Amino acid sequence: MKLADNKATLSFSNGSPSVEMPVYQGSVGPDVVDIRKLYAQTGMFTYDPGFLSTAACQSAITYIDGDKGELLYRGYPIEQLATNCDFMETCHLLLYGNLPNAAGKAEFTKRVSNHTMVNEQMQFFLRGFRRDAHPMAIMTGLVGALSAFYHDSTDINNPEHRDISAIRLIAKMPTLVAMAYKYSVGQPFMYPKNHLSYAGNFMHMMFATPCAEYVVNPVIERALDRIFVLHADHEQNASTSTVRLCGSSGTNPFAAIAAGVACLWGPAHGGANEACLNMLEDIQKMGGISKVGQFMEQVKDKNSGVKLMGFGHRVYKNYDPRAKLMQETCKEVLAALGLENDPLFKLAMALEKIALEDEYFVSRKLYPNVDFYSGIVQRAIGIPVGLFTAVFALARTVGWIAQLNEMIGDPEYKIGRPRQLFTGSVRRDVLPIAKR
Ligand code: CMC
Repeated sequence: MKLADNKATLSFSNGSPSVEMPVYQGSVGPDVVDIRKLYAQTGMFTYDPGFLSTAACQSAITYIDGDKGELLYRGYPIEQLATNCDFMETCHLLLYGNLPNAAGKAEFTKRVSNHTMVNEQMQFFLRGFRRDAHPMAIMTGLVGALSAFYHDSTDINNPEHRDISAIRLIAKMPTLVAMAYKYSVGQPFMYPKNHLSYAGNFMHMMFATPCAEYVVNPVIERALDRIFVLHADHEQNASTSTVRLCGSSGTNPFAAIAAGVACLWGPAHGGANEACLNMLEDIQKMGGISKVGQFMEQVKDKNSGVKLMGFGHRVYKNYDPRAKLMQETCKEVLAALGLENDPLFKLAMALEKIALEDEYFVSRKLYPNVDFYSGIVQRAIGIPVGLFTAVFALARTVGWIAQLNEMIGDPEYKIGRPRQLFTGSVRRDVLPIAKR
């Protein structure tokens, strides 16, 4: 970390001595005030629920400029990566810090392909779930269960274990998501085919059956690969911070990633793509585009509890760059499948148009986020709504693991242990039960 020229001084109105704190500069983005010695010097904590002003770590992986609507992985703009690179190159970039050349890409892809199968016992574990279990419930269980199968890669302090568990997780997530899907529809599990691309293999495991030849549609393959690239990392969001906090105790990588999957499930985070599609379907049932105005009135009414899902973001106060790319992909996929007149896409465009002009959204800087269009693309591809967040988890796994490995390698890393402002009862004595 680089010290800035200036320092921060915290003074108190009660005459307590003021304290000086160092300020550090990143390569880009806001400086940070180092408050680590604050408690030792003043006996006070800082208070920041929701981490509105708190940098919980230093990181060199992903940078977001929320005002500009800019997203960089290792310095590369997401637009360039989405256009020029595929998911395997993106994984290499996030994990190792550089884009591979052709030989490096081939080698990395081969390493990942070598690990696409899961232990056969996983099938029996999966079969313990109800057929109608939510895929994210299944994924939370299956990913956590991987730690029971790969004892040779569970030592988070061993760099070789970290590397092989990274490869295993990236390789096995598509297999697990596809198995969760096949189980829900009662079809046989399809083993991976390693000559296919990462996205193509996922499509094969999802949509092929043993009784017919399955040919990967290249437009859909490319769209799916783009979904993976766009979701691969997003700096210190809730699930990534969960993975870091969970991993900071020294737990194994599979357990830490399972915690990330659990966090991602929530509708304010990765669950938004499912919630967004359900919302579009509900409006469609209400009468479609003609009811958009009525729906928007509900969204703007704070007492209704209704939100425009797929809109708004903690960091982006401008158009989410991923949403732009996703809208483009959405158009391509719908055209390729002859679904240009898809009513949900038209509805989404109508909602977006109104929201971008409405004072409520404009004044709060609420713009579409990645989830606004990703559900429409996934639905067109044939992925069921309940599986959307699991696909997000599949793609985000590389980001989680890159961030986890970065944390473990950071000499300043400590177990995460937030403090609190205690507002409960002060010390009191227990009364005998007859006197309470
Ligand atoms: N619809 C209606 N009003 C909204 C929305 C929305 N989608 N998002 C924010 N607002 C309002 C909010 O009520 C608040 O109004 P006021 O200032 O009058 O109280 C204001 O905008 C600021 O919102 P906030 O809740 O303080 O913002 P936050 O940073 O705490 O929340 C968010 C960010 C993403 C949780 C929120 O915008 C949201 O719930 N959006 C819908 C869910 C969604 O699409 N989530 C996906 C996020 S992107 C993918 C991912 O990271 O997983």
